[in-house]
Amino acid sequence: MLEIRDLHLAMRSFEGEAHVLNGISLSVARGEVWGLVGETGCGKSLTGLSVSRLVAQPPGRYLRGQVIFDGQDVLSMPGAALRALRGRRIGMIFQDPTTNLNPAFRVASQMIDVALHAGAPNRRAARDGAIRMLDRVGIVDAAKRVDDYPHQFSGGMRQRVLIAMALLGRPDLLVADEPTTALDVSVQAQILRLLHDLVQQDGLGVLLITHNLGVVAQICSHVAVMYAGNVVETGPVRAIFRTPCHPYTRALLEALPGAGAARGALRSLAGQVPNLFTPPPGCRFAPRCPRATPECEAGTPPLAELAPAHRVACLHPHA
Ligand SMILES: Nc1ncnc2c1ncn2[C@@H]1O[C@H](COP(=O)(O)OP(=O)(O)O)[C@@H](O)[C@H]1O
Ligand SMILES: [Mg+2]
Repeated sequence: MLEIRDLHLAMRSFEGEAHVLNGISLSVARGEVWGLVGETGCGKSLTGLSVSRLVAQPPGRYLRGQVIFDGQDVLSMPGAALRALRGRRIGMIFQDPTTNLNPAFRVASQMIDVALHAGAPNRRAARDGAIRMLDRVGIVDAAKRVDDYPHQFSGGMRQRVLIAMALLGRPDLLVADEPTTALDVSVQAQILRLLHDLVQQDGLGVLLITHNLGVVAQICSHVAVMYAGNVVETGPVRAIFRTPCHPYTRALLEALPGAGAARGALRSLAGQVPNLFTPPPGCRFAPRCPRATPECEAGTPPLAELAPAHRVACLHPHA
C-alpha cells in the first residue's frame, strides 16, 4: 500500500543545507502496524510528513526517491489528487496545527469539516458520523461532548478525539507521530490499546512514529529503526527484539530498562549523533560503532535481507 523508495531530503536553514533523509526505504501493507523509531532528530517526523507531502518546500528539497501510495507517487501527483488522499485514504495525527485540534473552535465544527471533506453528504450526516466516531473511541456522552471546546477535554481524551478525526474518512493508512508521548503512562497504555483495537477491526495499515521502543513492543507488528536519516534495520518486531542485527539497534535494546519494559525511552549511547550538515562519509553510525572498520566509511551500506523480511544496513551485522 505504501512504499517509500530511497527517499533523500535536504532541509535549508541559516546554517546551510542539511541532508536529513539519506535514502529512506520502507513499505507498509494493509494490516501491518509499523513502528518508526530512533532518537530525536533522526528524521522520523520528516519521513511521516513526506507520506502526505506535508514537508514545506522550501525549506525542504527532495533530492531523490519516491513515496508510492497505491501505485502513485505522492511527491509528484497533482494537488487535487493529493488533497483527495489526505484525510480520506491517509489519516494523520501530528503535533502540527494542520492535523491537530484548533483551540478556538468546538470539536463538532472541526470534525464536521473533516467528515464533509471525507465525503459525508451533508452537515447533519457529518455531525452524526462524528458522534459515532467519538463514541467508538471511548468518549462518554459523545452527543453532548461533541459541542465542547478542545480545552474541555483531558490530554488523553483530546488524543482520542484526534484519533476519531483521523479515522473519520475511513483511511487505509494511518500515520501517527508520537500520539502518546505527552500522556501519563497509564493513559498512554489506554490509547495504545484503543489504537490496537481499531486497527484490528478495520485492518488498516499504520505508521506509528515514536522514540519509545516500549510503545513498539506493545502494539507494532513491524519496526524500522532510524539513525541520522537512514533506516538501519527493519523487520517483524519479534525478530528484531529477539535478534537485533545492527549494532545501533542492539545498543538501543540494551539501553532498555529490563526486557520488554513498557516505559523504555531510548537512552543515549556513547558519542554523539552526527551533524547532518557535515555527515560522516559512509555509514553515519560508524563513528560510534564498536564494530566499525575502514570499509564502513566507503559508502552507505544498503539494506540487505539477513533473514526473511529482516533487513539490515550494516557491513558487520550481528548474527
Ligand atoms: N523546518 C526545518 N528546517 C530545518 N531543519 C529541520 C526542519 N525540520 C526538521 N529539521 C531537521 O531535520 C532533522 C530531522 O528532524 P525530524 O524529522 O523532526 O526528527 P525526529 O522526528 O526524528 O525527531 C533534524 O536534524 C531537524 O533539526
Ligand atoms: Mg519528531
